[in-house]
Amino acid sequence: MRDANESTQGTPGRSGPGFNRRDFLKGSGAAVAATAVATAVEESVAQEKKAANVVAAKPGPVKLEINGKSHTVTVEPRVTLLDVLRNDLNLTGAKEVCTTTNCGACTVIIDGKPVYACARTAVECQGKKITTVEGLGDGKDVD
Ligand code: FES
Repeated sequence: MRDANESTQGTPGRSGPGFNRRDFLKGSGAAVAATAVATAVEESVAQEKKAANVVAAKPGPVKLEINGKSHTVTVEPRVTLLDVLRNDLNLTGAKEVCTTTNCGACTVIIDGKPVYACARTAVECQGKKITTVEGLGDGKDVD
């Protein structure tokens, strides 16, 4: 039997008196956990500061050519083309169903190609030729 004060140097698995591999692993595990918590707290604080610095974009004029007519609306840059069509211009042919680009109910034609209006901002549609379902017919061929 070894005395508690006896040196353990030279003993396999022991690196010194009163200190063994288990103690080392416990200590290093606690240090890693403390570092992880500190890092998470720092990231959280940084995200809060970043969010506080974000200033809401101000509404501005957006000029759109829809169904051959020019329209100017004042909207925030984040507003979708679909919202402008339905809420500002009363063009309700494009429907708001999923708003996640899954259903196609909001499809319009932009520069000759079908596009989901819920996936485009009005700002990015400036200078493009937009056609909605209202602009497809002349209203005379209805049976
Ligand atoms: S609303 Fe469904 S794809 Fe746009």
